[in-house]
Amino acid sequence: MTEAEQAPPGVDPSTPSPARLYDYYLGGTTNFQVDRIAGDRLRDALPDLYDAAWANRGFHQRAARWMASEQGIRQFIDLGSGLPTQGNTHLSVRQVIPDARVVYVDVDPMVAAMSGELLADDGRTSVIIADMRDPDEVLSHPDLRALIDFTQPVGLLMTAVLHFIGDGSDPWALVTRYADALAPGSYVALSHATADKLPPRSVQAMYATYENTPTRIYLRSRADVRRFFDGLEFVPPYPDAAPCVTYVGVWGADDPEAADSEGSRVLYCGVGKRP
Ligand SMILES: C[S@@+](CC[C@H](N)C(=O)[O-])C[C@H]1O[C@@H](n2cnc3c(N)ncnc32)[C@H](O)[C@@H]1O
Repeated sequence: MTEAEQAPPGVDPSTPSPARLYDYYLGGTTNFQVDRIAGDRLRDALPDLYDAAWANRGFHQRAARWMASEQGIRQFIDLGSGLPTQGNTHLSVRQVIPDARVVYVDVDPMVAAMSGELLADDGRTSVIIADMRDPDEVLSHPDLRALIDFTQPVGLLMTAVLHFIGDGSDPWALVTRYADALAPGSYVALSHATADKLPPRSVQAMYATYENTPTRIYLRSRADVRRFFDGLEFVPPYPDAAPCVTYVGVWGADDPEAADSEGSRVLYCGVGKRP
């Protein structure tokens, strides 16, 4: 059977997608030949690509677990959640809060096809296929409303997704819109790709790769990423650090110096508290 015949409804196996590319970078198998060719080509120009993906995934898991263990957050919204992978959000936070509730939101139809792995059998997780650029649709979705209590703090995760949203859709206003919908004491964790530490060849390859997917990529500066936290109280990324944006490998690391790497510097990240 060809990949085209295997592709679930709505999935175009002839075009790479951000979700399937990321799955490939993480060593997953939910991807097609077009994703693997595009991923290999990008890695030729950006040798630390896989390290960057793993550093980002590590940040996602550490930030979610920190919200659960240190802040007692019991409910999570994971925007741009990606395909099921090792350490899905509900598995990470349930190590601490066994009955934590998680709503996954992604725009890629492949996520819908694979959603079985994200659905816990106790009905405390759900998967919504929606475009996060439409916060009204996302926030009023009945499946989200069924699991999330907006009078209580929420952990909002937006890792490695805002760089797929162009300035024309005002991703800064979107983050504010989502954060404003949450109860005080909620937390927002986000990561975002940057060209700040990359050579021009890697930057060009990054833009070229995502030019061929349903969405482009928008690499942003530290100052641009810092602006996502306007109105939020920055959490220090590790003990004794100033509250600020940092690189994904470093946030919450036991030994930030050892955790620093070239791949880690492909994405900025931070966690902010909704006052
Ligand atoms: C690089 S993956 C990140 C997955 C996960 N958040 C992580 O950091 O491990 C980016 C995901 O964002 C999704 N995405 C991109 N644009 C989106 C949008 N406008 N609304 C919802 N999801 C989107 C993609 O389909 C993809 O699954």
